[in-house]
Amino acid sequence: MTIQASPRACLFFAFGLAQAAIQARAAEQPRLTRGPYLQALQQDSVIILWETHLPSLGRVRYQLDGGPEIVVNETQPVLAHQVRLDRLPAGSFHLYQVLDGNNALHDNIFRFRTAPPSRSDPVKAVAFGDSGLGSPNQRDVGNLIRSLDPDLLLHMGDLSYTGSLDDVLFSAYPELLAQKAFYPARGNHDMHHDWRAYFPPPNENDDGRASYYSFDWGCAHFVCFDSNSDTLAQGGRQLKWVDEDLARAKTAGSRWLVLYCHEPPFTVGNYGEAPDVVNTQRKTRILIPPLADKHQIDLVISGHDHNYQRSHPVREDAIVDAWQSPEFISPGGTVYIVTGGGGVTLYREDPRADHRFTERFVFAHHAVSLSITPEKLSVEAISPALGRIDAFSIAKEGARPEYRFVRGDADSDGKVNLTDAIGILRHLFLGKSLECSSLSAVVADANASGRVAIDDAMHILNFLFLGGPAPASPFPECGKDTAADGLGCTPNGCR
Ligand SMILES: [Fe+2]
Repeated sequence: MTIQASPRACLFFAFGLAQAAIQARAAEQPRLTRGPYLQALQQDSVIILWETHLPSLGRVRYQLDGGPEIVVNETQPVLAHQVRLDRLPAGSFHLYQVLDGNNALHDNIFRFRTAPPSRSDPVKAVAFGDSGLGSPNQRDVGNLIRSLDPDLLLHMGDLSYTGSLDDVLFSAYPELLAQKAFYPARGNHDMHHDWRAYFPPPNENDDGRASYYSFDWGCAHFVCFDSNSDTLAQGGRQLKWVDEDLARAKTAGSRWLVLYCHEPPFTVGNYGEAPDVVNTQRKTRILIPPLADKHQIDLVISGHDHNYQRSHPVREDAIVDAWQSPEFISPGGTVYIVTGGGGVTLYREDPRADHRFTERFVFAHHAVSLSITPEKLSVEAISPALGRIDAFSIAKEGARPEYRFVRGDADSDGKVNLTDAIGILRHLFLGKSLECSSLSAVVADANASGRVAIDDAMHILNFLFLGGPAPASPFPECGKDTAADGLGCTPNGCR
């Protein structure tokens, strides 16, 4: 059977459809397309951000845990929402929800804690970087970070390799970003994003850039450096601002100074020797260590090289107190960490790179946990696949240990073990530096022949596994060597 409609009926039907569409549109509620997430979380304030697919008049409903509900309304409809909450008590938990008018935009009630009230409060942070590809590895590192439950998330940059922050940042860590302080550094893959629109900074610098800033959190002062900014230059505004900021922080009594940025000053991975290491990489190598020396920065963290690395303590381009590793007491230099294993394809160690400053290199996805008290800064690098891949600590006070000379201890970790034999073989056959190559190889010269050769590695292996003779005197140790340098290298052995 065929039904034939008259032209008049068709017109009426089309009109009805259009009217229904208009009514449906009018009834359509704005829905969340991003967030909510926190920015610039401080002792007494926070900015809550979210995006809706239609312009809406946003509202934040919040309350101090157990306190009365407070509502903050936006004054005009927008897509990208930013609502600042002020006059919050320090170190306090708050509940919040974002709404369109009276309609909640999400079911969950989120919870955040403002920064702790005093400079003696502890800090629990996680540093990670180079995450943004949406890979299973990124998901695993994200799950690891959630399990660590930090107060602070420090991102070393390259938030997204896909061009979209929504795909690989905001949708990757929604509960973390809704409830934790998130302070990202800008990476070379992040340059096209409007940084201020996404990440309003906690304070302003001289040239109004949102991409470098600083903040206090408990007993630590953090400085986020923009290593991709054109203001990063000798005599440039950024360097001047950071220099003054660090001086202010020390005067104000900040116990620990932590600086972080994307490109690492020291690295032995993909960017250790590559010809395109050029400008940005060389700039951080040239400009950051003098700044760290001047202000006695405790820790510099960066990303960009997709692996984990830890340097010896470095001061004035020389290694100091490396022999104290992994439990440093008042080391004379700054430790540099590379944490670029947040999710993207890993980079291997480059044998052509300058390895003098590198204590540890691990090819693994990971995140770095920082636990800081006024007395001690403890660092643990954790891989979802491998577990703990590094751990060390820096104490501010206490008697500095004396260097104990142990012949055969080629890596100066205080004992003769398999890693010493491996270190000697890597030196002989792969061209790796020995810890003490800058002065003398007397430590690695296990059989006291006057030179380092394969015999020394064999001597150690024979001693460890076949009951052979111990390394020559001085062994197992002879106490402090006054001629030893910061690495524990000595031209003469014990005196
Ligand atoms: Fe990068």
